[in-house]
Amino acid sequence: MRKARSAVLISGRGSNMMALVEAATAADYPAEIVCVVSNRADAKGLDFAAARGIATKVIDHKAFASREAFEAALDAYLRSMNVEAIALAGFMRVLTAQFIAGWDGRMINIHPSLLPAYKGLHTHERAIADGAKVAGCSVHLVTPELDGGPVLLQAEVPVLAGDTPDLLAARVLKEEHRIYPQALGGFAERIIEERK
Ligand code: GRF
Repeated sequence: MRKARSAVLISGRGSNMMALVEAATAADYPAEIVCVVSNRADAKGLDFAAARGIATKVIDHKAFASREAFEAALDAYLRSMNVEAIALAGFMRVLTAQFIAGWDGRMINIHPSLLPAYKGLHTHERAIADGAKVAGCSVHLVTPELDGGPVLLQAEVPVLAGDTPDLLAARVLKEEHRIYPQALGGFAERIIEERK
């Protein structure tokens, strides 16, 4: 089966990356995870990926003089791996419009809110403080506007009485692990179609 060569970019725990890697073990899943890249050497997810025989790469942003130099190294690595699709999964670097343009329509992200609500950080804290009754997560196409690209898939969860940001985050994360593999699958199918 033809599969879209996909990279997952992480900065830490990597639980969404793990969900994508697990999904990609299915013979009929349209994406193959060819590498996991982290900007932090201590990202917990790296060991998991390496143990699964996936190429791992640390590109430490602090080792570069500028954001552009960091991104040039990242871009070169992804191209050297013939990557066709990028899934950001807790990747905590803001990417420049120039980098994003080089992967136009080829990069997706998961965000822990019902976009366009709560772009940026501390989404659960903000939802609880606002008295929101519903929270959730979104997979979206990455465009130069932070967390602002077209939404591909969303899942809702209730905000419960007595919720803390951690409790709500855990409830949302379960849904992230369900919808991200589904969204990458659909995205990869479109990329394979485009290739024909
Ligand atoms: C997730 O909540 C994701 O939505 C956000 O960062 C968190 C990453 O968690 N972008 P993990 O590294 O995938 O476990």
